[in-house]
Amino acid sequence: MRTTVQFILVFALFFGGAAKADRVSVRSEPISPIQDATITDSAKVELGKQLFFDPRLSLSGVISCNTCHNLSLGGTDNLKTSVGHRWRAGPVNSPTVFNSSLSIAQFWDGRAANLQEQAAGPIEADVEMAMPHTLAVEVIESIPGYRSQFAAIYGNEDVSLDRITDAIAVFEETLATPNSRSKSLRVIPCLKPAAAWVATTGRRLAARRFKRWASSSRTTQAPPPRAALP
Ligand code: HEC
Repeated sequence: MRTTVQFILVFALFFGGAAKADRVSVRSEPISPIQDATITDSAKVELGKQLFFDPRLSLSGVISCNTCHNLSLGGTDNLKTSVGHRWRAGPVNSPTVFNSSLSIAQFWDGRAANLQEQAAGPIEADVEMAMPHTLAVEVIESIPGYRSQFAAIYGNEDVSLDRITDAIAVFEETLATPNSRSKSLRVIPCLKPAAAWVATTGRRLAARRFKRWASSSRTTQAPPPRAALP
């Protein structure tokens, strides 16, 4: 009986202490866990989402923000360097737009202070969307659906670069990835071994399979010739 009580006490002290230490260490971390996005103006988020996916913001009419920050590919284009207007390759690759609102500055060299300031850049950059800002505003203004959305959100139909980039930035703030699937597996005790297996052996097996696939003859064939560009 006494040993049982002692055991319970030691157990409680040990794990209670460990849990407390865990909480303290998380709090003192310089990087805190990512929180869910809080949406205060869903109409503006929707407008920003439409603009993010709209190729009419580019001079060619075929490139949108999503071309280089494909939300189905982790917010990037998975290319060595991004390909923009007239299929020209730029000098650097595109960072993900997921969780970018948490960065202290935007772009690899941090030259934009925040997401709104950042969004004006790619619209006009000639290796990205190559669209003069005045023309971008005129195009968006010419679309009645957009005009009524701007009126509902900003109080009047005026379309401006500031409003376009504001809406895009507010949409981007919702692109947060608070938790990973493998983490939620870990909190269910019986799934702990499965999660550990996926993280170690599973990952190794997948890497080996990928290596074998990458070195197979399929990838050594020459790619078909590119069609001539206009
Ligand atoms: C042609 C490809 C391309 C297009 C189109 C494009 N981007 Fe980018 N984006 C990039 C590249 C490349 C960078 C990195 C540039 C640098 O750091 O100099 C970047 C950087 C960013 C960043 C900074 C992220 C970080 O972590 O620093 C954000 C945010 C972003 N783009 C949002 C947008 C939005 C919004 C649009 C549409 C208005 C857009 N991008 C259109 C290629 C593109």
